[in-house]
Amino acid sequence: MKNIILGIESSCDDTSAAIVCDGVLLSNVIANQEVHKIYGGVVPELASRSHQQNIIPVIDFAIKSAKIEKQNISAVAFTRGPGLLGSLLVGTSFAKGFALSLNIPLIEVNHLQGHVFSHFIVNSEEEKSLLPAFPFLCLLVSGGHTQIILVKDFFEMEIIGQTIDDAAGEAFDKCAKVIGLPYPGGPHIDKLSQNGNKNAFAFTKPKIPELNYSFSGLKTAFLYFLRDKMAENENFISENKTDLCASLQKSIVDILLDKLVKAVKITGIQRIAVAGGVAANSGLRNTLTEMSQKKHWKLFLPPIKFTTDNAAMIAIAGFYKFLRKDFTSHSVAPIARMNF
Ligand code: KG4
Ligand code: ZN
Repeated sequence: MKNIILGIESSCDDTSAAIVCDGVLLSNVIANQEVHKIYGGVVPELASRSHQQNIIPVIDFAIKSAKIEKQNISAVAFTRGPGLLGSLLVGTSFAKGFALSLNIPLIEVNHLQGHVFSHFIVNSEEEKSLLPAFPFLCLLVSGGHTQIILVKDFFEMEIIGQTIDDAAGEAFDKCAKVIGLPYPGGPHIDKLSQNGNKNAFAFTKPKIPELNYSFSGLKTAFLYFLRDKMAENENFISENKTDLCASLQKSIVDILLDKLVKAVKITGIQRIAVAGGVAANSGLRNTLTEMSQKKHWKLFLPPIKFTTDNAAMIAIAGFYKFLRKDFTSHSVAPIARMNF
C-alpha cells in the first residue's frame, strides 16, 4: 500500500496544500493573499480570515491535481508553529477535522524544520539519490528567521547561530519600505539590484560574536545614510534606486556568508544548504555558488518555488515522520513561538 500524505501550511499569509506519495511530490498548491499589500505588511486578522476562505478550495485542488482519492490519504501533516497564531489555528483545526473524519493519523510539523525539508522534496524516485547526505549545514533565511542549523539527521537539528534582532528578510522588507517599494520588498530589491552597482555605497557591518547575526544596525545605518543624502538632494533615492538596492543586497549577503564561512571552519562540514524566502535571492544564490566552487563546498540550492512558504515541505517532513510513526494527539494546539 502506498503512503500518501496531505500537507497543510498556514503559518503566515500563504495558504498551501500538497500531496506526497511515498516521499515523492504529486501536487503543491499555494494561494497568496493579496489583501495585505496595501497595508505594507501582513495583518494577522486578515490573514486568518483569508486562510478560512482559501483552505477548502486549496486542499480540494491539491487532491484533484495529484489525481488521488481523498479516501486513500494515509495521514495529515500540518504546521503547528512558529507563526501567526490565528493563521496556524485555521490549518491545525482543519487538519484535525480531516484526520478525524477519515480516521487517519495527525502529524505536526515545525515550520522551521519544514524549510529544511524543502531539500528533501523530490518529483521522482530517481531524484532521491541527489538529496543532501547528513550532516549538513542549512542557512535558514526567511522573513521571521535567520539561523545556521546543523542538520545531523532528519529530525536531529541544532541551531548553532541565529539573529539577535531582525531577520534577513525583515532587513530587506524594512529597507525596501523606506525607499518606497511595495511589501514584501525582498523580491523588488532583488530585481532592481540586477541593474545597479553593488559597490556604489557601503554600510557598516555588525560586530556580533560567534555565529550569531544582527540586522537592525544595518537598517539604522541605511536610514541615517538616506537622511543625510536626502538633506543634500531630495531626489537622491529616485536617482540612485538601483545602486541603493544592489549595495544593500550585497551588504545583507556579505553578513550572511561571513558567518556561514565561520560555521564551516568550526564544524568542518562542507555540505551547505540554504532555505527560506531569502534563499530565492539571486545575489545570495550567485555569491554562494561562486564561493562553493572556490572552497569546494557541496552546495544545495532549492528550486525558487520551494524557498518561500509552501505545503510541499510540510508534506515531505510529514512523510518522514509517518515512517517513524511520530503522530500527534488531537489535543494539540498551535504555538506562535517555538524552536525545534
Ligand atoms: O519563508 P518565507 O516565505 O516566509 C517566512 O517564513 O518568513 O520568507 C518571506 C521573506 C520575505 O521577507 C521576503 O521579502 C523574502 O522572504 N524574499 C526575498 C526574496 N524572495 C522572498 N528576499 C530577497 N530576495 C528575494 N528574491
Ligand atoms: Zn517560512
